[in-house]
Formats: sequence, C-alpha cells, structure tokens
Amino acid sequence: MTKIITISNHKGGVGKTTSAINIGAGLNKLGKKVLLIDLDPQANLSQNLGITDSNRTIYGALRGLHGLEPTSIKPGFDLIPSTLDLSGAEIELSGEAGREFILKELLEPIKKKYDFILIDSPPSLGLLTINAFTASDEIFIPLQAEFLALQGLTKLVEVINKIKKRLNPSLKIGGVFITQYDSRKVLNRDVVEAIKNHFPKEILSTSIRDNIALAKAQTQGLDIFRYNQKSQGANDYLSLSKEILKIKNFKKPK
Ligand SMILES: Nc1ncnc2c1ncn2[C@@H]1O[C@H](COP(=O)(O)OP(=O)(O)O)[C@@H](O)[C@H]1O
Ligand SMILES: [Mg+2]
Repeated sequence: MTKIITISNHKGGVGKTTSAINIGAGLNKLGKKVLLIDLDPQANLSQNLGITDSNRTIYGALRGLHGLEPTSIKPGFDLIPSTLDLSGAEIELSGEAGREFILKELLEPIKKKYDFILIDSPPSLGLLTINAFTASDEIFIPLQAEFLALQGLTKLVEVINKIKKRLNPSLKIGGVFITQYDSRKVLNRDVVEAIKNHFPKEILSTSIRDNIALAKAQTQGLDIFRYNQKSQGANDYLSLSKEILKIKNFKKPK
C-alpha cells in the first residue's frame, strides 16, 4: 500500500527540503518507488534537484489546468515540481468548495504507482500545508538541534489535531527527527534531551548530523547518494530511510 508522508515544520531552515529529497532518495535506494511533491512556492526542492523549467507543476494541477504528471529524476524516483506562481494558490483556491481536499483528489489516480509519496511543505500552516495534511497518512517533523527548536511546535501539533478531527481521522505523527546535529556542541546535546522529553514516543533513533556534503549536493542538483555515497549525510539519511521503512512494515496490517 502507498504511504503518503508530509515533512513538516512551519519554521524555515530546519531541513524539511533536504530531508524530503534524501529520505526519498534513500527509500528509492532501498528499492522503493518514490514520488516527491514540492508544495513550497520557494521551489527549493525542485531547484535542488535541477528541475526548473517544467510546465507540469503542482500549481497547474492544483488550479485544475492538468493532472499530476510526474517528472522522472531516475528510475523509480519522480517529482512533481513547484514554481513561484504557487505563492498565489492559497488566495486563488480559498473560495473553492472542498479546497482542503484538492491534493488528495489529485493523488488518487496516480498513487498506486508508488510505495511512498513524500510531500515537502512550505514554512507556514496555510491552505497548502492543510492540503498536504489532508492527503497524508503520516507527518514527519524535522527539528534543528538548536535553542528554541521546540518553540512554536504546540501550534503545529494543534493544527495536526484539528485536521485529524475535521478532515483526516487517520492522520498521525509518524516520527520526529533531529537535523543539523553537531555532537561537539554542548547546547546541541541539551536540546536533543529536551526534544526526547517532549516527544518520547515519536522521536526516531537516527539523527542527521551537520554535514556540508548535504548542502553541496543541492548546488549540483543531486541527492546525497548520487553526490557522495560515502558522506556522513548519505550514511545518516540511509539509516533514517531504513528506520522509516521499518515503521511502515511494523504498522502494516496482517
Ligand atoms: N544536515 C545538514 N547539514 C548541513 N547543512 C544542512 C543540513 N540540512 C540542511 N542543510 C542546509 O540548511 C539549509 C536549510 O535546509 P532546508 O532543507 O532547505 O530547510 P527547510 O526546507 O526546512 O527550509 C539549506 O541550505 C541546506 O542545504
Ligand atoms: Mg524548504
């Protein structure tokens, strides 16, 4: 069965886009068919994979101009790209009936082709994020291991609970994981303890270390496995992908 996951945290710069790309690439490396959806008007995910000139974007699909027509990155690894015009979508769609369900409906005819659909979300909790949550089975939350990492999260959990109650009863937090971790910093270690106390059940055992290769890969339009298989970043995202796969298998009904 297809698992639809949104990577979400309304704080910017916490590693959502980097995680969507590299968990996607990691799951693909483990033999899974993966579709990435760039649902951020900043289109960082699309740019970071070198896709900047598509005329089959998430914006066109949400506006009803065409269906979801994925662009292939490599075998079993596809993308629905974004563009800046997506920034107008929240207002343009705000008067539509069932506006929270547009993405869910668009995914219906193509989702069976994939094992995982990963949605990268914008740093806000508006209609685009609500569409992502309504379409998803699980939300994964990346947290930067820095001071104030937990600030504002109550709001995110509140929104998740509202969507669960009103629009998507089976939605759950699939996991919380730490990014940009530097074991040499005492503060980092303290923050990790605070995060573990706050999310004792949801915290994943893999943390993503601070690793320059992850940023460099993006400037070349590559995921970390094609950029440098041997980097810490590749190692960390592969273990995170394995962990996510285990959660999936664990929860699969018999
Ligand atoms: N583990 C990491 N190590 C080093 N740099 C990282 C790491 N994760 C993300 N970055 C860099 O930090 C910046 C913000 O990451 P990004 O994934 O774009 O965050 P978000 O999508 O939450 O705004 C980017 O420049 C990215 O290359
Ligand atoms: Mg981003």
